[in-house]
Amino acid sequence: MKSVSAGGLALGLTALVQAGLRFPCSTLTFQRLDPAGQPDALPSSHVHHIVGGNAFNATMTGDVGERATCTTCQMSEDFSNYWTATLYFKDPNNGSYHRVTPVPVQPLLGGSQGAVGGLTVYYSQFDLSRDNLAQQPIKAFPPGFRMIVGDPGATSKEHAGLSYQCMQGGGNRGRITNEMPQQPCPGGIFTTHHFPPCWDGKNLDSVDHKSHMFNTVTSEGFTNAPACPASHPVRVPQVAFETVWDTTKFNHLWTSGAPNPFVWSFEGAASGYGTHADYLFGWKGDSLQRAMDKSECFYDGCGSITKQAMSVANQCTVENFVGEETDGWLTEIPGWGSMPMS
Ligand SMILES: *[C@@H]1O[C@H](CO)[C@@H](O)[C@H](O)[C@H]1NC(C)=O
Ligand SMILES: *[C@@H]1O[C@H](CO)[C@@H](O)[C@H](O)[C@H]1NC(C)=O
Repeated sequence: MKSVSAGGLALGLTALVQAGLRFPCSTLTFQRLDPAGQPDALPSSHVHHIVGGNAFNATMTGDVGERATCTTCQMSEDFSNYWTATLYFKDPNNGSYHRVTPVPVQPLLGGSQGAVGGLTVYYSQFDLSRDNLAQQPIKAFPPGFRMIVGDPGATSKEHAGLSYQCMQGGGNRGRITNEMPQQPCPGGIFTTHHFPPCWDGKNLDSVDHKSHMFNTVTSEGFTNAPACPASHPVRVPQVAFETVWDTTKFNHLWTSGAPNPFVWSFEGAASGYGTHADYLFGWKGDSLQRAMDKSECFYDGCGSITKQAMSVANQCTVENFVGEETDGWLTEIPGWGSMPMS
């Protein structure tokens, strides 16, 4: 043992987390594309913040892990794509919009290691402290698999696992809420999306992109996933994203007492209940299965999963398929007025 404090730290972390992958992915692109929710639409209805592999496109079928050649994620065999809506600031004084920049989640154990923007991805086996593989083996998603959690049309809480935190700075992430923060957040806005962990075992997708999955998530945190129901008997990794939106540079434009000026790319009045996220599986070969078969899979150290430097990940890009400006001061959020919101 090196020292009491180092040993204590290691023990504390081991007790907290040994049951899944967690890693940063840098921003790949901001575009109006949604190959899971609106396949073939070029453009889709609203702007997304997308991370992951460079096979990303308006339409994505087949084995993405075989097609992609680079990824913005730290795990170099992960060519999946992960995306959410994009946050915009609406200036209360003149009505102009500005895209909000995501920044790496801090503190992240092991560090974000040079990630640019992006989000943090989790693949939990059971909960943050146990894998429970003997009780419930984890089956990795098959090629072509996709799913959505949340609903842009929601006007009340959909279910647990879709949340906001008004970051207070200094490592204090603030209270968890299901609504958008209503006061300026000194450390930015933290959003979390937990996906359902039970699959019907047959369908790569469904008409609503959700009903092939069953949600056992009942609280906002990384709590355990109870046994899957007979209708959706296959336990898959529980995927979650964490994104930090750097809203701080707009706080001085938020007039005291004015309503929350941060809006998602799909909605005008921001209750925040419409928060949603998309996942399109693209791990190469059996790499995710190998990680999930490992007991005590510890954050970024699951078996033989290979990592790349974020400086390499950051070089992965896709072309601008839509070819429209999504950043800078805009009179309208892209897609508004020209297409129905969905
Ligand atoms: C994107 O999709 C279009 C239409 O399916 C296709 O023509 C194009 O080659 C794709 N681009 C990339 C980079 O995959
Ligand atoms: C609205 O206000 C912002 C912040 O002061 C400014 O940068 C932007 O140019 C303004 N937009 C218009 C259309 O005047």
